[in-house]
Amino acid sequence: MKIAIIGADGQLGSDLVRVFSEDHAVHPLTISDVRVEEADRVLRVLTAIGPDAVLNTAAYHRVPDCETHQDTAWQVNGRGALNVAQAAEALGVVNVYFSTDYVFDGSKQTPYVETDCPNPQSVYAATKLLGEYFTRNYSARHFVVRISGIYGRTPSLVKGDNFITAILRQVASGREEIRVVDDEILSPTPTLEIARNTLSLLDQADFGVYHMTCGGACSWFDFTEVIFETLQIETPLVRCSVSDFPAAVKRPAYSVLENAGLKRLGIDRMPHWEDALVRFIREQYPEPGRYGLS
Ligand SMILES: NC(=O)c1ccc[n+]([C@@H]2O[C@H](COP(=O)([O-])OP(=O)(O)OC[C@H]3O[C@@H](n4cnc5c(N)ncnc54)[C@H](OP(=O)(O)O)[C@@H]3O)[C@@H](O)[C@H]2O)c1
Repeated sequence: MKIAIIGADGQLGSDLVRVFSEDHAVHPLTISDVRVEEADRVLRVLTAIGPDAVLNTAAYHRVPDCETHQDTAWQVNGRGALNVAQAAEALGVVNVYFSTDYVFDGSKQTPYVETDCPNPQSVYAATKLLGEYFTRNYSARHFVVRISGIYGRTPSLVKGDNFITAILRQVASGREEIRVVDDEILSPTPTLEIARNTLSLLDQADFGVYHMTCGGACSWFDFTEVIFETLQIETPLVRCSVSDFPAAVKRPAYSVLENAGLKRLGIDRMPHWEDALVRFIREQYPEPGRYGLS
């Protein structure tokens, strides 16, 4: 198959390129090739490629910035998704839009399934939900893939560090202790696993909304404990609450997703969050004891 990947040099995009290139002809598109908010160009670029599927990872996703730059958030996450959906529909190709656990308000205490009612609490989340609706209603052959707390080998240009590198940077700066929130519960997921499972999903013709996160659930504190244990970091780790950090934007306190759709299709191959994290750390940081200490 011919696969066009929008946002190909991003955190998720680069792993999609890596995984899909093994068996498919990949056309990586960066922001210099196409901006999703430019409808004519989206159609022109995709028409020239003639893909069987387009994977859209483009987003304006620094959550606090979306509150202050609402128009940009809408243009990229909403209008951009509409433009890609309309182009995909015109070309009759499969359209994959990556969305977020943040579409939920976090009030549920058991994992969210795809049929649970979204209730976005921020401009970022609302514009991503809008992108979902455009994808679903303007491109018949669509997959909306909701992911959560992603981390990968390639840093996001706009966000910089992923959670792991941000923590290691704090350790390296010589802080006496590292404080991490223990009351935001989710299922952090490596982008490589998302790329692999998206590949399996594309073999199906069962279009719709899918949750795609690692199994189990943890707080960012639990997640950091595993980083520290795996890398033998001895800096004291202190449990704290989101209320200790005055935030401009509401984030769901509980956003664990159940991969109910993938399970129904018999293709839920997502690992447990802890196994995935340990594997990622061992690959990225092969010498325990060294990292974050200098
Ligand atoms: N990060 C998370 O924890 C998380 C959680 C849930 C869902 N998601 C979703 O997952 C997706 C991928 O996130 P990521 O962390 O891989 O992001 P990322 O690293 O920032 O990658 C996004 C890619 O899209 C490109 N892009 C940005 N604006 C664009 C535009 N207007 N038109 C075309 N391309 C554009 C970026 O180019 P430049 O780098 O040149 O700007 C980059 O290549 C996003 O849709 C995000 O909403 C992320």
